[in-house]
Amino acid sequence: MSQLTHQLPNILLPASSDLPVDIKQKDAGAAAFSEEFRKLHGLLGDKEQLPDVDSIRVELTHAASSLYGMAETAAAQTTSAQTMSKEDLSRNLREALGDIDRERRRLDDFVIYDKYFGVARSASYTRDDFAANLTKTVARLLDDLTHTLLNIDDLAAIVRSADVMLRSCCAGDGDTSLESAPLVATANVPSHAHPRETDTAYRWRLGHHFFALCAEFSRHCLIAAANRLPDGSPHEMADLIDLARLTLRGTTAAMWYATNMSQAAYMGTIRPSMEAVQIGGFSGTQNLDYERLKKTRESTIKKFCQRYGTKDDFQFEVREAFVAHCEAEVQDLEHHTLIAASKVSMNPSLLQGSGAAFPAVEMLRLMAHGRRGDLAIFLGSVE
Ligand code: HEM
Repeated sequence: MSQLTHQLPNILLPASSDLPVDIKQKDAGAAAFSEEFRKLHGLLGDKEQLPDVDSIRVELTHAASSLYGMAETAAAQTTSAQTMSKEDLSRNLREALGDIDRERRRLDDFVIYDKYFGVARSASYTRDDFAANLTKTVARLLDDLTHTLLNIDDLAAIVRSADVMLRSCCAGDGDTSLESAPLVATANVPSHAHPRETDTAYRWRLGHHFFALCAEFSRHCLIAAANRLPDGSPHEMADLIDLARLTLRGTTAAMWYATNMSQAAYMGTIRPSMEAVQIGGFSGTQNLDYERLKKTRESTIKKFCQRYGTKDDFQFEVREAFVAHCEAEVQDLEHHTLIAASKVSMNPSLLQGSGAAFPAVEMLRLMAHGRRGDLAIFLGSVE
């Protein structure tokens, strides 16, 4: 197994409002990962047969292996992806964030979250930074997926969103020459090869990293769609909104992956590690990448409404893309509720110590309800 696996990973994410990534989907052609992803899509999307779990595991291992070669080369190019001190993170974010994020309390919240998850932020984030962090994270993720028990739809969503992002930044521009690493991992690596505590912490952190990459990318696609206004091609705008949806679905699957552990492991290891950060722990509401995606969704919808009026005046394909996108957002919160239920049942939220007196599950249900209201323009009837 590559040495990239099973050290607690760190990641570099943007502090600025821009993600300098070309969202155009390139033909991955001869890129090292291309053929493996094609096979994975085939296995995961087979409508004729039940999933062949062993073949999927083998193919995940091959895909991970093809990316390790790229990741190890890319890692050498990115020197700044070390964790920053709290002070550096704080200074960096304060300088880089827009008005919405600059509010004092929020800044501290984001810093706590980033510090815990091994996130460094760069105000001059480059396409190479994204490519390096993406390949490394996806290589590790596909590798660890061979040890998980995920719903096949979530597995497919992870593979799909990883492919979408890799195609936008790693395909067709030189990566093709990278040798893929030798196939050292096999589908039969025993799951007890690493201590249990290390595995849960590793998975929890890596899942959050993949979540962040998907969220930033999804946001970027929505911005690109809005930038096509006022007279862009409806087809192109719909494609961009669809890419935003696919990677939004990637964030949902990332949550299932991050929490793919027993309730006992979550309650005994992960939750205490979050409580140790400060009394009452902290929450996903302190996740900068998610907050940005949410704000961008709101502003994108507003811009399209300013241009076209109500959804009935939207071009057909743009309207359908927004309907599907908003549905995926509501489903994300429904998944989130189930994830919290599987980990904490009806226990009071982690935040109880700081005043949240009811269960996490209830908070998430309320959020789902609120979001249905916010997105009502593109959804069916709302009670
Ligand atoms: C990979 C990403 C995430 C995972 C795996 C995840 C998982 C979980 C889990 C296991 C809980 C139960 C917490 C407990 O009480 O111990 C929870 C609660 C919650 N999550 Fe997330 N979550 C993620 C991201 C987010 C994000 C981005 C938000 C932003 C709105 C969020 C908002 C909440 C809220 C409001 C609760 C309930 C109250 C609380 O304890 O904070 N989560 N989530």
